[in-house]
Amino acid sequence: MNTSGIITRRNFIKNTALTGAVLSTLPLFNVRAQGAGRKFKVGVIGSGGRGSGAVDNIVEAAKSLGHEIEVLAVADFFAARTEKVAKKYNVPAARVFAGADAYQKLLAIKEIEIVILATPPAFRPVHFEAAVAAGKHCFIEKPVAVDPVGARKVIAVGEIAKQKGLTVVAGTQRRHTGTYLRNQNAVSQGAIGKITGGAITWCTGTLWFKEREAGESDASYMVRNWTSFTEMSGDHIVEQHVHQLDVTNWFLGRTPLSAVGFGGRARRKTGNQFDFFSVDYNYGDDCRIHSMCRQIKGCYDNVGEFYIGTEGTTYGGGKMQSAKLASLTIPEFKTHANGQVQEHVDLLAAIAANKPLNGAKDVAESTLTAIMGRIACYTGQQVRWSDLTTNTESPWYNLTLKPAALDFESGEVVAPKDEVCPVPGLG
Ligand SMILES: NC(=O)c1ccc[n+]([C@@H]2O[C@H](COP(=O)([O-])OP(=O)(O)OC[C@H]3O[C@@H](n4cnc5c(N)ncnc54)[C@H](O)[C@@H]3O)[C@@H](O)[C@H]2O)c1
Repeated sequence: MNTSGIITRRNFIKNTALTGAVLSTLPLFNVRAQGAGRKFKVGVIGSGGRGSGAVDNIVEAAKSLGHEIEVLAVADFFAARTEKVAKKYNVPAARVFAGADAYQKLLAIKEIEIVILATPPAFRPVHFEAAVAAGKHCFIEKPVAVDPVGARKVIAVGEIAKQKGLTVVAGTQRRHTGTYLRNQNAVSQGAIGKITGGAITWCTGTLWFKEREAGESDASYMVRNWTSFTEMSGDHIVEQHVHQLDVTNWFLGRTPLSAVGFGGRARRKTGNQFDFFSVDYNYGDDCRIHSMCRQIKGCYDNVGEFYIGTEGTTYGGGKMQSAKLASLTIPEFKTHANGQVQEHVDLLAAIAANKPLNGAKDVAESTLTAIMGRIACYTGQQVRWSDLTTNTESPWYNLTLKPAALDFESGEVVAPKDEVCPVPGLG
């Protein structure tokens, strides 16, 4: 029993009881899975930093469960970016694809059971739709869209995946991390009472960016420099801070009602994004969450989540203070130390047991939460959840950023001007 009323990473496991009934529902790491010895055939679309990392993660996850992975095909916009994965996993040249339509060629390979979708987020709704249509289980990196239309498409495609019995796991790794799972479980049992407020942050240094090369096409420039363009990344409130917004929706068990905020551009050299955002999210029922994100070198850095309840406080995956803890039974979540491996353990275990997981709606709603904050800051207006989900009269309901994914396939890409960003108050 926890007599101090404080959960730390260390004493959480020690002080909590584990029942067999709960254990059977938990993700397990390093347990030889039922029906072990399967060889899963995998394809990766977008084999950059995260795509190639996710391939390594799924290989490690399979090993821990007694399965194997065969990387059957690789697709990327640029041929050069396929090389690392193709070489490491001996993918034959005939199954290495490049170009804006490379994903279609990969998805046409019937033997592929699982696809990893790790391109910039602008492409995710179209690629996810095609992958589910082709009957593939999916690992979809976060965020999953850059505009409300794209996020709603991911929710709809997620429902189709459900009907087809396909598993969809998203790259929101905190949902697969033991410390977060334990705190979320405690919060859902009322450990800190009703959450009334919180502060969530992703404040870090300057992210990488690329400058345009001489004679480079708009499409190539935007794909190479995708972290600088809102049309490609959703801006960094969507691309990075989606993690904290996802934890918030998860811990609160609901999405926000509205957002008001401000932000600006101070030091970026390329693209059209802001450097900082500050958003007040109203979750209803007298709960307000302050969200803050910044990408500027030399400033105070902090990444995390903190929530205040009527009966305690908690960090997302850290210390919890609660007088009620001693009376609660909180299971031990035995996960891999790396949530990016555990998410693939959960994906493979679900497929092997034929008990599909489906995280599409959760990650699409977290993406939409971030998009709502971005629109509030870009316009200076209050943006309601209903503006993005149900109110078809809202100016933002049909917002579709251009160039969009299909423009890259048709070749009709006109890059927005560098260094021109939205001005609040101008609509
Ligand atoms: N979960 C996490 O912690 C985490 C960490 C890093 C990145 N990510 C996410 O992973 C995604 C990729 O990020 P990254 O860091 O790997 O970027 P990256 O630039 O290293 O890789 C993206 C790759 O996608 C390719 N690509 C672009 N458009 C394509 C298209 N239409 N078809 C096929 N390939 C295409 C690019 O050429 C590139 O190789 C992003 O959504 C990012 O937010 C998640």
